[in-house]
Amino acid sequence: MKAILFDQPGDEDQLYLAEVADPSPAPDAVLLHVAATALNRADLLQREGNYPVPPGANPILGLEVAGTVMELGSEVSGFEVGDNVCALVNGGGYAQQIAVDHRMLLKLPEKLSFTKAAAIPEVFLTAYQALHWIARLQASETVLIHAGASGVGTAAIQLVRLAGAVPIVTASGHKHEALAQLGAARCIDYRTEDFAEAVLDATAGKGADVILDFVGGPYLAQNMQSCATDGRIVSLAALGGARVQDFSMAPFLRKRIQLTGTTMRSRTDEYRQRLTADFRRDIWPYFADGPLQAVVDTIYDWADVAAAHRYMASNANVGKIVMTIGLD
Ligand SMILES: NC(=O)c1ccc[n+]([C@@H]2O[C@H](COP(=O)([O-])OP(=O)(O)OC[C@H]3O[C@@H](n4cnc5c(N)ncnc54)[C@H](OP(=O)(O)O)[C@@H]3O)[C@@H](O)[C@H]2O)c1
Repeated sequence: MKAILFDQPGDEDQLYLAEVADPSPAPDAVLLHVAATALNRADLLQREGNYPVPPGANPILGLEVAGTVMELGSEVSGFEVGDNVCALVNGGGYAQQIAVDHRMLLKLPEKLSFTKAAAIPEVFLTAYQALHWIARLQASETVLIHAGASGVGTAAIQLVRLAGAVPIVTASGHKHEALAQLGAARCIDYRTEDFAEAVLDATAGKGADVILDFVGGPYLAQNMQSCATDGRIVSLAALGGARVQDFSMAPFLRKRIQLTGTTMRSRTDEYRQRLTADFRRDIWPYFADGPLQAVVDTIYDWADVAAAHRYMASNANVGKIVMTIGLD
């Protein structure tokens, strides 16, 4: 089969298509013909040499796939050759074939295309985990979602609404209209507004019950200021840098704030399988019957992988950047 590889860490132009050995499924896995994958920031970091591949993970880029079952491992039940599925994977999405544990598979409803389905697993599972497993979101609570236009942000807005809670987002101003249409109750332009003041204003001084943060060090103090008493902050990335300066513990202690850091890729296979099982039960049906939707910004052919990576690095997207996998 063919896959997208790189030999040295570096820019987008390091990426090239090459012949690699076909994968073969373990007894509890299936072999998929990959129709589409989607980009994640982690792909850019890994390509740059800033995201070491965890032990046991597939070193090929790509954390999610949609495609068709080609072959079943000897212990797999509940799936057939020809089933269309999508899955969160631990690397290996930028390839024509991939072996995936059957416990990670989500069967596609009839009307869900491969390009939409490939845009779902990583960001919706991450947002679901952060909101429900970690932050224990309750109906009527307010959630501040930073980087609201990111893939994870656009998933989180929808899951917050589905839970009967209220999403407030930060994002560049020109993305606000799209985010309001997705369900954001208040959009804050972090470039021109003090987001902590805006959140306190929008919540009558109470603050957000849950905060999903992707910006990191520069936002920690303002997040504490924006957070309600007994609030939960889930820290998912450090897009603005990991170092914290001039930080007072006082609001953290006084408001009994819970701060949790997490990365999906460092989780065990068993954890990701349990998360997928809960997601399949609680959330997946809403993609068939509404109201959930994959938010796809742009679709690239995999021959244009360098352009796709450049586009993600430019921060222009609202939602996901998808890549179709060619047959040759
Ligand atoms: N921990 C986990 O398990 C996990 C899982 C998945 C993803 N992630 C992380 O979550 C983040 C979002 O991922 P994604 O793939 O959904 O991203 P994405 O679609 O590429 O979107 C990133 C958006 O963040 C905003 N942004 C970038 N730098 C910023 C900064 N310094 N300050 C404020 N906003 C900034 C930009 O939108 P604006 O135009 O609005 O600035 C940009 O479009 C990434 O950092 C990714 O690594 C973590």
